[in-house]
This record gives sequence, structure tokens and C-alpha cells, in this order.
Amino acid sequence: MNVSIVVFSPSGHTLKAAEMIKKAFEEKNSNVRLNDVTGKEEFLYGDCIKENLVKVLGEHDVLFIGGPIYAGHIEKNLVKIIQSLPSAGKEYSSLAVPFVTYGGVHSSVALEEMGRYLRKQKRKSVLGIKIAAAHTLSYTYSNTIYPDKPGPEENEIIRKAVDRVISIVEKGESAAEDQSKSFKYSPAMQRIMYRIFTQDKLHGKFRNVSINQDKCIQCKKCISVCPVDMFHFSDEIVTMKRDKDNCILCAECFHKCPANAIEHPYIEMGKKRLKDGYIHLEEKKSGIYPEV
Ligand SMILES: Cc1cc2nc3c(=O)[nH]c(=O)nc-3n(C[C@H](O)[C@H](O)[C@H](O)COP(=O)(O)O)c2cc1C
Repeated sequence: MNVSIVVFSPSGHTLKAAEMIKKAFEEKNSNVRLNDVTGKEEFLYGDCIKENLVKVLGEHDVLFIGGPIYAGHIEKNLVKIIQSLPSAGKEYSSLAVPFVTYGGVHSSVALEEMGRYLRKQKRKSVLGIKIAAAHTLSYTYSNTIYPDKPGPEENEIIRKAVDRVISIVEKGESAAEDQSKSFKYSPAMQRIMYRIFTQDKLHGKFRNVSINQDKCIQCKKCISVCPVDMFHFSDEIVTMKRDKDNCILCAECFHKCPANAIEHPYIEMGKKRLKDGYIHLEEKKSGIYPEV
């Protein structure tokens, strides 16, 4: 069986989950291509995202596509990538498996959104996986949420998902059904609320990350860690090269800057919203949908 995985992972947890998926398939003698699009301009900007995806996807019987949940929704760059997928057909099966990682707070509508976007691209979501992971905004809070996830518990869930996908693919593409209705597992009120509170509404006004030039030591760490290629070095200083709206607030630059030179307005707001890391967490941490 040929499997293609596309993953966008600003802080590495979704990538870790993707690697678990890859290993589980390889142990069942499948061929896996893992395409990590994080930080790669050719998959995030411009008019050639589709052409660039075509170059890396390879022939596949099933496509796994994954990314993080931000503000209850699937991160917007992944939406762009799904919308740029080449059509299913001879080379590419229509079978897809969306997977998300989230910081345990609210997985909400993200899988549902992915199912909908995939359907628009004529792909059937035969399964969806939600995976609890370290909440990257909580690193500097009093309580870091799920610091060691994804770990063995999530790996076990991933293995089960892989077994289920193998048996679905073996029955043939035409027998497989789109199961994205099962991704509507959040309470109705929450789903309505997130229709109103889009990612842009919740994050838009905080997309104002800046560099304090008095503190910056020009080490260029922010350039190497930014998953959306925001920074560059020119005229002997590091500056932002793109419109601030492209920043996704992942806080990789903030956490990794050795000189504390990154000013990130969402860290303090996140601290309030996440009750300093002591916020109530979803009961079902990780799971496969449909549940059986
Ligand atoms: C800006 C931002 C917003 C986030 N919003 C949520 C959220 O709404 N609910 C949640 O449970 N986790 C949230 N998280 C946590 C991430 O979903 C989680 O850490 C995820 O595993 C990150 O994936 P990555 O390591 O592949 O980037 C957020 C993280 C960031 C940086």
C-alpha cells in the first residue's frame, strides 16, 4: 500500500504524530512518503502550491493530512494546502485521513472543517484522528499542558487508526464512505460559537509580533525556527519580511530567542484565556472518528 502524508507542524508535535503514523504503516509493509511542508515557502505562499504538491505527493492509496488546532480551528495554512490538493484520480486515491494535534483545551470544529474542505476537493475522509499534544502557548505558564504528549498513549491510538485504514483501503476505494459527519463530536453550542469566532476574529488583532532591536543579538534563530518564513537578515539586522497578517502566533520565535528580543502580544492574552495553564481540558484527550 502507498501512503502519502502531508503535515504542517509549527512546533513539531503534529510532525511527531506523522512520524508515528509513518512507522505504524511501515511495520505493516506499506510505503510511506512523509511531506513536511513546515517553513517551506513553496507550499505556503504564491500561486504554485498545487504544482509543488504534485511534485512531492507521489502515487498513493490514501492521503493523511495533518496540522495543529489554533483557536479551536484548523490552522489556516493547512486550509490553503487542502484547497491546493491535486484532484483524485488515477494516481491519487480519493481516500483521505485528516489528523490534528491540539493542546487538550478544545479540539472543537477543526476535524469537521478538514472533512468539509477535503470533501470540496472530492476526497473522502474515511477516518479522522485527534491527538493531544503539548500546548505550545503554555510553556511559560505556571502549568504546562501535556508537556510529554504525544507519547505512548497517542501512539497506541495511531496504531489502531492505521489498522482500520488498512482494512478500509483493502476493501477498495468505491466501498469506502465519507465519514466526516462523525467529526461533529463537539457540543452543538460550541460548534455554533466557533462559526462566529473564526481564527481571524480570535487571533487577528494579536498578529503584531515584533523584534526589540535593542535586545536582538542577530543570531538569526528566529529565521530558522519560523514555520511561515516571516523573518530575514538584511543590512546587518533581522527584520520581518512579510505582512504581519501572515504570522500565525505559534510563538516559536518567542520561545527560542536566546536574547528575549521577541515581543509577542498573544502570550499574555493566552495566559488569561488558558487560566495560566489550569484550564479545564477535554475529557476525551485523543480519539479516532468514527468511534466504534
Ligand atoms: C496560537 C495558538 C493557538 C492555539 N489554540 C489552541 C486551541 O484553541 N485549543 C487547543 O487545545 N490547543 C491550542 N493550541 C495548541 C496547539 O494546538 C498544540 O500545541 C499543537 O500540538 C501544536 O502543533 P505543532 O506542534 O505541530 O505546531 C494553540 C497553540 C497556539 C500556538
